[in-house]
Amino acid sequence: MEVLQTRQQLKTWRSKVHGSVGFVPTMGALHEGHLALVRQSLNENPWTLISIFVNPRQFGPTEDYHRYPRNLEADLRLLENLGASAVFAPPVEEIYSPEDEIHISLTRMSRLWCGNYRRGHFDGVALVLAKFFHLVHPTRAYFGEKDFQQVRLVEKMVEELFFPIQIVRVPTVRESDGLAMSSRNTYLSPRGRAQAIALYKTLQYIQTLIPTHLNVEELLREGRSYLTERFPEVQLEYLAIVDEYSLELIEHLHQSAHPRALIAAHVEGVRLIDNMPLRVGD
Ligand code: PAJ
Repeated sequence: MEVLQTRQQLKTWRSKVHGSVGFVPTMGALHEGHLALVRQSLNENPWTLISIFVNPRQFGPTEDYHRYPRNLEADLRLLENLGASAVFAPPVEEIYSPEDEIHISLTRMSRLWCGNYRRGHFDGVALVLAKFFHLVHPTRAYFGEKDFQQVRLVEKMVEELFFPIQIVRVPTVRESDGLAMSSRNTYLSPRGRAQAIALYKTLQYIQTLIPTHLNVEELLREGRSYLTERFPEVQLEYLAIVDEYSLELIEHLHQSAHPRALIAAHVEGVRLIDNMPLRVGD
């Protein structure tokens, strides 16, 4: 496995490989969720490149950029064992310069949900991915459904900026109790870890109500009471049921062919997100 740190090294590697290239962008501190993306890429492409880059532009001034977990040695060992072809782990200066003029500004979809609470976050994600997509020239790029709004925005960006890249969605990987795997779970104490299950449990609870409730406002009200009664230490940020394509709130489950519940909450000051497609009977 080659470990590339500069754009030049990446360019040299890219010019040597022929056939489809799968690209898995990450911020490192790898867990089984990330590895599922890598495994899928390895199954679908002769070459798989993973980027490990904690992107400063997608963190707000009060967010966890400086304390975000960094574990390059362990990450490289995991990727080497899986049989990855190459890792791109550049220093910040290789990607950004203080003289940079270009910023990407997304509109409607990026301001909903997480974007409403993390101003500029998705603009930063789009900028780093646009740079990486140009450098890597992947055939396919792999994204987790865990960050559902992110994968929808990436699909939009690729479509609108004509990147010739196929975006592949990978289902959320969970711990055995249902908690969505996340690098930020490592911030939680054992007590917080026990409360963190609230997000998944609330989504599941909403699903169990669906045979008798199709009104979204009612479902959300029931979901919120469930969360506050069972998990008093969890601060809900938002709970929504949206159309999975537009990410707009719906009023009635039959209004969308693909309704999805989205949730974000704080546990011990750690921001966690999750989502689930909702199955609606006929
Ligand atoms: P990061 O949080 O490291 O996640 C990298 C990729 O792994 C994303 O596509 C994310 O959705 C996926 N992922 C994380 N946890 C997952 C889980 N439990 N199951 C399935 N997939 C999971 O997302 C980012 O980094 C950054 O925003 C990035 C796209 C790299 C741009 O900087």
